[in-house]
Amino acid sequence: MAKKVTKIGVLTSGGDSPGMNAAIRAVVRTGNYYGLEVFGIMRGYSGIIENDIIPMHSRSVANIIQRGGTILKTARCKEFFQPEGRQKAYQNLKKLGIDGLVIIGGDGSFRGADIFSREFDIPCIGLPGTIDKDIAGTDFTIGFDTAVNTAVEAIDKIRDTADAHDRLFIIEVMGRDAGYIALHSGIATGAEHILIPERKTDIEELVESLQEKERRKKLVNMVVVAEGDEFGGANEVAKVVKERLPFTDTRVCILGHIQRGGSPTCLDRLIASRMGYAAVESLLEGRHNVMVGILNNRMHYTLLERAVKSKQKISDEWIKIVKILAS
Ligand code: F6P
Repeated sequence: MAKKVTKIGVLTSGGDSPGMNAAIRAVVRTGNYYGLEVFGIMRGYSGIIENDIIPMHSRSVANIIQRGGTILKTARCKEFFQPEGRQKAYQNLKKLGIDGLVIIGGDGSFRGADIFSREFDIPCIGLPGTIDKDIAGTDFTIGFDTAVNTAVEAIDKIRDTADAHDRLFIIEVMGRDAGYIALHSGIATGAEHILIPERKTDIEELVESLQEKERRKKLVNMVVVAEGDEFGGANEVAKVVKERLPFTDTRVCILGHIQRGGSPTCLDRLIASRMGYAAVESLLEGRHNVMVGILNNRMHYTLLERAVKSKQKISDEWIKIVKILAS
């Protein structure tokens, strides 16, 4: 029989993502509903180590569902990956009587939670909060939809000016290890080429394809590159393209961190709310060391260690669609 959880802590960790506030709100209000004491932990795991932990009530999360960023702030905490750091964290949680944690973050944050919860008897529930969507066991991650829509809006605008000048644009979107933002925003904006870390980039093929487009007077072209593409980001790709196609009017645009901010879309608010609610229910049901996800519109629980190691695969069909539709 699992120990009954009475006081829980919630934190956001790693890169922020739009919808984290909606998830915090759901955790606090669901916790309160079930009579739990809920604490907000500031700046991810750093807040546990430094004892920067505040009680939260229904009113503490008023008027935040629509806000980007995270009211709890976030950090990537190296100290938590040292045994001494985790020991300190455990002592601080124990002092406050916190007996369950909800961690909203990406795979690095889950790795920390997994180790911590194996060492100490504190159940940890992960919620996938990352714009990169690079976590297995869920169809959605909190923030991806907003980020990809931000990218789409920006690329649409770039296409307007590209069209006016007959230009080639090489646009870099976020995604250090994953090409989902590039793939989705590229398809949705009719990009001619999409370069992602999951596929080896054939730069020759790209150059030849652009040359061929030039021959048939197709002068407006958009290449969307994920920042983590193994060939390099937009600047590296542009360097080769400019050398090989010196008469093509080429520009580079790096979208950067605008993709991480902004008001979350309806979808991100909904999944964050569902996941936050399910996280508290999970703790009450005695689950531990799992990530709450949504698969085929049902809640799905993946062991943190598996959510950590597996990455989603990008199917060949997506790549085929890009080629056919951008011809
Ligand atoms: O949160 C994920 C992510 O946005 C990646 O796509 C990107 O590579 C990374 O974070 C950037 O992190 P930072 O803001 O620390 O430079």
